[in-house]
Amino acid sequence: MALTVWPVTDEFVAEIYDVDLSRPLPEEDLAALKAAFWKYAVLVFPDQNLTQEQHVAFARNFGEMDKTVLKAAVSDKILRVREDIADVSNLDDKNELWDENSRLRQLQLGNRLWHTDSSFKYVPALCSMLYALEIPPVGGQTEFADQRAAYDALAPEMQRRLEGLVAEHSLIHSRARMGYAEWSEEERKAVAPVPQAMLRTHPETGRRNLYIASHAGRVVGMDDAEGRALIDELLAHASQRQFVQTHRWRQHDLVIWDNRCCLHRGLPFDDLRFRRDMQRATVRDVANTCEQEGLPVPQVRAA
Ligand code: OGA
Ligand code: MN
Repeated sequence: MALTVWPVTDEFVAEIYDVDLSRPLPEEDLAALKAAFWKYAVLVFPDQNLTQEQHVAFARNFGEMDKTVLKAAVSDKILRVREDIADVSNLDDKNELWDENSRLRQLQLGNRLWHTDSSFKYVPALCSMLYALEIPPVGGQTEFADQRAAYDALAPEMQRRLEGLVAEHSLIHSRARMGYAEWSEEERKAVAPVPQAMLRTHPETGRRNLYIASHAGRVVGMDDAEGRALIDELLAHASQRQFVQTHRWRQHDLVIWDNRCCLHRGLPFDDLRFRRDMQRATVRDVANTCEQEGLPVPQVRAA
C-alpha cells in the first residue's frame, strides 16, 4: 500500500502513515515521502520501531551523516549511542538521570533556545530525524517555527536589508545566552564561529526563508551591538505563534525536520525527575550556506 500523507497544517507539518521505516523503502514511497518533506518541512511518523542501524539507514536516503567531531570536544560522556547518532536524552553513561550540575545538562539546556541544528558548523545540517524511545508524562514537547512563512511576513524593507547579510554562528554564542562560558582553549577552537547566510533559497522549492538561530552572535560588517540587536529582533519575529507548531511526543514517534528552513526548540520538563530518551540522526547539508547562496565567504573573528 502506498504511504499516506495526512496534513496537520496546510503548509508546514504532516503525519505520514502506512510506511515502515525499519525496512528499505520502495522507490515510489521514497519519492512521495521526499515530495511531502519539501512541501511541509516537518513530518511525523507515528509508531515506528527502529534500531539505531535502521534509523541511520533511513537517514542516509537524504545524504551524508553529520559528523560528530564536537561530541568529543564538548562532552567526555561515554556514548550511549553509535557515533553517528546524537544522544538527546537526559541520561548519563550509566543510563540514569543526569546530575543537576553536570556539564552535559548545562550544555544540552541550550536546546531550549530557538535554533537550527549544526548551524555552528561550517557545513550545517540539512535535516534531523529525532526518535522518541522514552518520553516524560508532562512537558518536553518540541516546537517548530516555519522560516519561509517568517520571511514572507517580513516588511519588504527588512527583506531587502537582509539580502546578502551573513551572521556568525557558534555554540559559544548560544551557550552564552544561557549563561554558560566554561570552554577550554581547545574547545574554543573546535567551536569557533562560522559564517552563515541570513537568507536562504530552498533548493527543492525555490522558496526564500530566514536563516538565523540563537547560535548567531554577530552580523558580519556590523558593530557587535547593532548585529546582536538585529539577530534578537529577527529571532523574536521568527518565533511568533503564527509560525509555530508544537509536537507532543508519543513513544516511537520519529519526527524529521528540514533545518534549512525551520527553527526548533525543546520545551521544558522535569528533567531531574522524569526520563526522556531521544536519539537523533542528522544529515549534513551539501555546502556552507554562503556558498549555496553565491555569496563571498567572509573571514570571521574568534568569539
Ligand atoms: C534536537 C533538539 C529538542 C528536543 O534534537 O536537535 O533540539 O525537544 N531537540 O529534544
Ligand atoms: Mn536541535
